[in-house]
Amino acid sequence: MGLRFIKIAVVYLVIGTMLGAWMGSIQTFTYAPVHAHILLLGWVSLAMAGVIYHLYPAASETRLAKAHFWIHNLVLPPFMVVLALFLTGTKAAGPVLGIASVVMIVGLACFMVNVLTNAKPAG
Ligand code: HEM
Ligand code: HEM
Repeated sequence: MGLRFIKIAVVYLVIGTMLGAWMGSIQTFTYAPVHAHILLLGWVSLAMAGVIYHLYPAASETRLAKAHFWIHNLVLPPFMVVLALFLTGTKAAGPVLGIASVVMIVGLACFMVNVLTNAKPAG
């Protein structure tokens, strides 16, 4: 489970930094929040979860870990696409953005409960 998180995280690292480089090259920063959250929810949060699941394997085998994995990874791509639409003027995307945020937070809450209840000292 830890490795699965880490392998997806590194893909977001490259996509997010490519978007940053593209924004820099055209000096247009409309998508800065997309860049920021691809890297922070995609790279940083997923990589940290991967490392935490690796350090505390008991927490990586639970149904909460699976729920966290699927919710986070299924919602993040559409979340970022809808955020990009919103930032380029599609204000109707606002409510969808709200729903995506709540779903993402549900996934993160699964992670929180999982770590609080199932992460045990190694050995
Ligand atoms: C090749 C690597 C990267 C490039 C070329 C790049 C480029 C950029 C650019 C052009 C902006 C917009 C700045 C502005 O609006 O004035 C930005 C903002 C930002 N970047 Fe990156 N970035 C890179 C890597 C990263 C990484 C690895 C992270 C996080 C792990 C990150 C997090 C952020 C955040 C949070 C912002 C928003 C800052 C703010 O709104 O004040 N970036 N980046
Ligand atoms: C469901 C998850 C999240 C939601 C709904 C959310 C929402 C937001 C919103 C509405 C803003 C203000 C954007 C603006 O001023 O244009 C923002 C900015 C920011 N968020 Fe998040 N965020 C989430 C997750 C995270 C996470 C996990 C991190 C860090 C690990 C993070 C770091 C930041 C940073 C550094 C900024 C300032 C950069 C910017 O203005 O683009 N966020 N976030």
